[in-house]
Order: sequence, then structure tokens, then C-alpha cells
Amino acid sequence: MNRKMILTGMAMVGSVLMSALALAQTPAPTYESLRDGILTAKCLKCHSAGSTSDANQMPFDTYAALLADVDDSGTKILIPGDVNDSILNKALVKTPPSMPPKKSGIPPLTPEELATVQLWIQNGAPEK
Ligand code: HEC
Repeated sequence: MNRKMILTGMAMVGSVLMSALALAQTPAPTYESLRDGILTAKCLKCHSAGSTSDANQMPFDTYAALLADVDDSGTKILIPGDVNDSILNKALVKTPPSMPPKKSGIPPLTPEELATVQLWIQNGAPEK
């Protein structure tokens, strides 16, 4: 093996390592990261204690409030670890999504945002 081949090989190993590192560093979603991102952009206008919307009864602006939120039938909207049974997820995966309400003019979640929310629920919906 000549010197050039060795250098090329080292560069390849290096770039594989770099991308593995980048993947490992993508932080897992937490309540706090969702609140600062998706929830603020698309939900908190209505789902917060100070809002004038009826959704002020179902606030997402603190972790404790979100965990305690129930729908009209008294069922918890978030079941950590259970994506399919979480009403929170059901509202987002309907066609068309029921949240955010179409008439609000707020765009629906992108596929990436939906995947982030689902991963968070699946991971047990950690606060931080
Ligand atoms: C424009 C105001 C508004 C926005 C924005 C909004 N919601 Fe809602 N949401 C409501 C209202 C009002 C209700 C309760 C009445 C109802 O069920 O339609 C509700 C109910 C819900 C429910 C209870 C189950 C259901 O489908 O009714 C869930 C879960 C929910 N919202 C999640 C979200 C999420 C997640 C977001 C952000 C991606 C969001 N909402 C954005 C107003 C809003």
C-alpha cells in the first residue's frame, strides 16, 4: 500500500467517524426542546393557561400541566411510552390533522416534526 492510499483510507475512516458522532450528538427530544420549538410555533397560542382559546383548559406550557391534561371524556391525552394510544398523537396523525385547527391558519406539523413528537412519546416523554 502506498502513502496516498493510506491517507485516502484514513480520510474515509475519519469521515465515517465524524458522521457517527454527528448522529450521536443529535439530542433526543425532550419536553423542553419541544416547548421551545414545535409547541411554541404551533400549539401554545391556544394551549396555554393565559390563552383566550377554550384550549386554555388543556395547557401545554408546563410539563406538569401537559402530563395532567385530559380530553372531554377524562382520558389523559399523553401516555408516555405509548404513541398509538396517546390522544396527543392521534390529533396529529388524522387526515387532515385535527391539530392545529385548520381555521387557525397555523400550518400542520411537517413529517419531521411529527416524527420528533412520536419519538419523544416513545422514549417515555422525558422532561429534559
Ligand atoms: C387555534 C387554537 C389551537 C391551536 C393552535 C392548537 N389547538 Fe389543540 N385544541 C384547541 C381547542 C379549542 C381544543 C378543544 C376543543 C376541541 O376538541 O376541538 C383542542 C384540543 C386538542 C386536543 C384534544 C383532543 C382533540 O383532538 O380534540 C389535543 C390532543 C390537541 N388539541 C393538541 C394540539 C397540538 C399538539 C397542537 C399543536 C401542534 C394544537 N393542539 C394546536 C385549539 C388549538
